[in-house]
Amino acid sequence: MKNIESKLIESRQYKPDIEFSKKSNLNPSLLKKLNSLYKNNPDEFWSSLAKKEIQWIKGFKSICTGDAPFYEWFKEGKLNISENCLDRHINKNKKAIIHIAENNQKKIISYDELYILVNNFSYALKQIGLKKGDRVVIYMPTIPESIIAMQSCARLGLIHSVVFAGFSSESLKNRINDCGAKVVITVDSFMRNGKIINSKAIVDEALINTSCPSINKCLIYKNLGTEINLNDRDLWWHEILPSKRKIVKPEAMSSEDLLFILYTSGSTGKPKGIIHSTAGYLLNCIITNKWVFDLKDNDIFWCTADIGWITGHSYVVYGPLATGATILIYDGAPTFPKPDRFWDIIEKNKVTIFYTAPTAIRTLMKLGEDLPEKYDLSSLRLLGTVGEPINPKAWIWYQLKIGNNRCPIVDTWWQTETGANMIAPIPGITHTTPGTCTQPLPGIEIGIVDEDGNDINEVNQGGNLVIKKPWPSMLRGIWGDKKRYLDTYWKKYNNNFYITGDTARKDAYGNIWIMGRSDDVVNISGHRLGTMEIESAIVSHEYVAEAAVVSYKHEIKGEAIHAFVTLKNNFINYNSVEFSGELKAWVKKKIGSIAKPERISFSDSLPKTRSGKIMRRLLRNIARGEDVTGDTSTLENESILDQLKNIL
Ligand code: WTA
Repeated sequence: MKNIESKLIESRQYKPDIEFSKKSNLNPSLLKKLNSLYKNNPDEFWSSLAKKEIQWIKGFKSICTGDAPFYEWFKEGKLNISENCLDRHINKNKKAIIHIAENNQKKIISYDELYILVNNFSYALKQIGLKKGDRVVIYMPTIPESIIAMQSCARLGLIHSVVFAGFSSESLKNRINDCGAKVVITVDSFMRNGKIINSKAIVDEALINTSCPSINKCLIYKNLGTEINLNDRDLWWHEILPSKRKIVKPEAMSSEDLLFILYTSGSTGKPKGIIHSTAGYLLNCIITNKWVFDLKDNDIFWCTADIGWITGHSYVVYGPLATGATILIYDGAPTFPKPDRFWDIIEKNKVTIFYTAPTAIRTLMKLGEDLPEKYDLSSLRLLGTVGEPINPKAWIWYQLKIGNNRCPIVDTWWQTETGANMIAPIPGITHTTPGTCTQPLPGIEIGIVDEDGNDINEVNQGGNLVIKKPWPSMLRGIWGDKKRYLDTYWKKYNNNFYITGDTARKDAYGNIWIMGRSDDVVNISGHRLGTMEIESAIVSHEYVAEAAVVSYKHEIKGEAIHAFVTLKNNFINYNSVEFSGELKAWVKKKIGSIAKPERISFSDSLPKTRSGKIMRRLLRNIARGEDVTGDTSTLENESILDQLKNIL
């Protein structure tokens, strides 16, 4: 790969609002101090922050140790995250969670109540025999009990793995088996778009016979009260709670003990179990909530992410609670019953900080460009986006219609692997331009490098986005797969830089523009999905011979999936319109609706190299309506390109 050319130049600049920075957690002089401290003494920078922001049970003795890329942070320190999130905020008469259900039921939980709920549930988990280091899979929607489950695991030192409640039984089964979970926690059912989703039945399908041998208990929170089948391994949440209030002493965790595993797609079929440890993760969560979101304890922070994604971990459950703020969670669809649901919730609950994904912004913009005008959104003071590049049109709409030209927008770049925001504006200080996540945060050293690892210094020349120095909340590996960790993130540049897998360029102001993924991963509605995973789901259908999946630009989702499929010979006369629908439903069942192809084309074969590798690059050109460019000399069956172009 040569440097990547960039043709997309946006130059509108938005000046920071000085008034904002007069009251914000970071002002220009503090930011300057932080940056110069990092430059002169990075150890002191991290150590002073860790001492200030985290409540330690025992102090740490070193900052960053270990050989690349197996870094360890704050060794010999002991702490507990649930203690940091709860115990230090009780007796202050403060709200922790405002929960809005899709049917509009509202529940408010104070820090004092949450503390009791977490202690009682921790006691119950302990009673069923779970011990530090055991894995627990949480398969629940975004309701307070999921937060209670996560915090209880953290209190006891159990490693949780939250599996997005929209995933199919097969995806759930694979994740349970990969991490060897002993317990799965779920709900009877939940509502989405006015329909009931029977989570417990999906869990039963995943656990059928002995398909998940490590599981010995399934805990069920009665959410909607729908009827379920009870098996021997099943226990109701409310039946295992202690009859009298119990206090469970937080487990003294070492800084490097694992907090959670979160599965994310890679470019090969199998999802990667990204592992995060305790102290470093907590530190970057806290400081980014304070710096980027300017979070204070009188804020009502609504991050719309599901707890099944990293954003839900860092900006719903751990960061904001550790900061002592009030979080709002909405367990429903953004367009239910109408596309003004978000604006209605903001008005009624006086949300001050709102963080969502460009795909949600585009959807709501399309369905009701003027709807926000009907609502009083004046409580908002800061807006954020995450998950994919935001196109300028959506950014400007967000700025005008939601922020009323008053609220800074923070476009935050980061990944499941980075644990917390890495590149983002500091509100009230950084100049912003629609479409760029601007500049790295203090303590984060970002590089854009060529294939040999040399810095690309020319303005607007694209290259591989890397992080040059370790940072506290970096992933600690892939669960059970050291080789894959090294191969995916480190090998190419000899363990010198962390490889993000994204490509990016830097403009004349030093702002970073993300250009896309460098591997074969598609980004649908802000979620990364491996094309291979989707391909293997398609190919598992008995009529299908081969499949290749690529993405193309989609107005709402950012990217959408185009699947190129060849059928087995005895099925080639099948009605393709009908079968297309069947195949979409098949993928939905196998992986979840997020992976459903938007378009499917059937052809006699797929473009392949002589060694049999499908040339996805050419399919991408076709799906995107571009000219087929680049080298086709290795193509085995050139005529197939014409056939594919004609089908579209
Ligand atoms: C993309 C989500 C442009 C990027 C927190 C990254 C973004 C992947 C941005 C990680 C942004 C995330 N601008 N692209 N502000 N934020 N991305 O692991 O490709 O679900 O590598 O983490 O999303 O997705 P993940």
